Amino acid sequence: MKIVHKSLFITGASSGIGRALALFYAKEGVRLVLWGRHAERLEKTAELCRKKGAIVYTRSQDIAHIQEAIDSYRQDDSRYNIHLAILSAGVSDIKGDSQAVEDPLAVFHIGLVNYAATSALATVIGECMVRHKGGKIVLVSSVAAFHAIPFAAAYSGSKAGLNKFATALRILLRKHGVSVCLVCPGFVDTPMSRRVKSFKPGLMEVDQAASLIADAIKMGKKEFIFPRFFVFLKYVEYFMPAKLRDFILGKIPSG
Ligand SMILES: NC(=O)c1ccc[n+]([C@@H]2O[C@H](COP(=O)([O-])OP(=O)(O)OC[C@H]3O[C@@H](n4cnc5c(N)ncnc54)[C@H](OP(=O)(O)O)[C@@H]3O)[C@@H](O)[C@H]2O)c1
Repeated sequence: MKIVHKSLFITGASSGIGRALALFYAKEGVRLVLWGRHAERLEKTAELCRKKGAIVYTRSQDIAHIQEAIDSYRQDDSRYNIHLAILSAGVSDIKGDSQAVEDPLAVFHIGLVNYAATSALATVIGECMVRHKGGKIVLVSSVAAFHAIPFAAAYSGSKAGLNKFATALRILLRKHGVSVCLVCPGFVDTPMSRRVKSFKPGLMEVDQAASLIADAIKMGKKEFIFPRFFVFLKYVEYFMPAKLRDFILGKIPSG
């Protein structure tokens, strides 16, 4: 019998990329701690992972309830000894054609979940991993972080904030043997991207995305942007004259 000492923690495991990552890692000898909001959907992921031989613990937790989420993480870590934490939970919003701007409360909620709660959770994870003298934190951001998308200002803003936070956290934690990997996906076929009706260049199957993310984590990458076309786009925008960039971004039709 194989004895399991360490656990893998995933937020957003009830759907999309988080769910696919849970299924990717699920096998005999692996212990998974899966978080989501929707208890039923989360349990479905857990069941599939158990069928593949993993030991699975679930917690239905809204990460926007941050004090509760921090306490829950400390509790789960002391029980299960987490060595790899993937923060995939996230929300998105797109301004409708009839709206001049996004809904202010949606803007607040996106900032809260994608940036504030995720960063606070990454911080408590870092604190626990420093105590364990090692570990890996993976933050799922987006290629939207590199572009100021006018009809998804809250989303691109929240992910840009997360990117800066991830870099700072990585520099801060490296001397403690804790690594931080920032993952920036392009379009991945999940319930989130299916809500966007426009053309989705490079749209990728979620299982393929999970396998690429897992490879990047294994290789110890600091930053992983995929598909590679978006690395090119990031630098094109970076070096483009600001006026031209604003003109092009302003012309992109909303989803
Ligand atoms: N799909 C894409 O094309 C794409 C592209 C770039 C980046 N991303 C990023 O990838 C991550 C995963 O997205 P996805 O495509 O897998 O989306 P998804 O299928 O909609 O899944 C989002 C996950 O986040 C969880 N979540 C949302 N709000 C939460 C909250 N307040 N507390 C706890 N959990 C919460 C959801 O839980 P419940 O379902 O239980 O509510 C769900 O498990 C996100 O950070 C997203 O920004 C996605």
